[in-house]
Amino acid sequence: MKVIAIINQKGGVGKTTTAINLGAQFAREGKRTLAIDLDPQANLTVVLSGGQFEFDTTITHVFDSAKKYPITEAIIPAMAAEQAIPNLSLCPTDIRLSRVIEQSLTKVHRERILLKQLDTIKDDFDVVLLDCPPNLSLTSVNAMMAADLFLIPVDGGSFSLNGLADLLDALEEVKETEDVNFAVFRNEYAKTNKLINNFLDEQLNELDGKVLSTSVRRTEAIGQASVSAEPLLTYKPGSTALNDYKSLAKELIARVNV
Ligand SMILES: Nc1ncnc2c1ncn2[C@@H]1O[C@H](COP(=O)(O)OP(=O)(O)O)[C@@H](O)[C@H]1O
Ligand SMILES: [Mg+2]
Repeated sequence: MKVIAIINQKGGVGKTTTAINLGAQFAREGKRTLAIDLDPQANLTVVLSGGQFEFDTTITHVFDSAKKYPITEAIIPAMAAEQAIPNLSLCPTDIRLSRVIEQSLTKVHRERILLKQLDTIKDDFDVVLLDCPPNLSLTSVNAMMAADLFLIPVDGGSFSLNGLADLLDALEEVKETEDVNFAVFRNEYAKTNKLINNFLDEQLNELDGKVLSTSVRRTEAIGQASVSAEPLLTYKPGSTALNDYKSLAKELIARVNV
């Protein structure tokens, strides 16, 4: 089982969209995939549950008391158009996550709660995707401890790289290595944005070998699918944007050997 954390402390760069559509793609390729929502805003939860808001057990319960609520209790089949998506499971979140995490500050090994829980299901899944919140909180540190690879979306907004150096510093610190396994890709890519693309290329040049060759193009159907609470794969099976996720999945499979 390989754990991929989709991380960037900036909001709106496409973390959740990537978790949804990459998850659907991995599942389609027969990988037993689990998507875990670590953002109390619960966008991933809503989409992959087919629009639900209430759950008996969420990742919040697990962080609150893993003894009482092991992660297996919080895993449900992912749904689209009232049908289970084969090979795709969801661990939902809820709005209380941030508060519960703060209260766990007194727990010993509090940054390893997720890591330990994932260890209990390592034979049940091939790949786990962690949809991280837009901050470097204790939730994100749990994701960092658990991840084999960090997938970092950057968008066309020229300021999105400002935080990248900070993020890489945090990853190095948590992982206690300068050789962090991360991969950056461009999201919401638009060929016509020459100025922004040149700027991004220049910045990303320094990350030799860490930039994926796949860019996910800006596509209206991607946003529309999220609004109607579905992965693109079921919302618009003929969409050309699916090719981007297919090639993203392929590159990642090669990098982490899923
Ligand atoms: N490639 C894309 N093309 C079009 N819209 C996108 C694309 N990626 C993300 N979006 C839209 O951008 C917004 C922010 O994306 P989201 O995945 O929620 O970001 P994050 O999780 O990093 O905050 C959403 O409305 C989403 O539908
Ligand atoms: Mg998000």
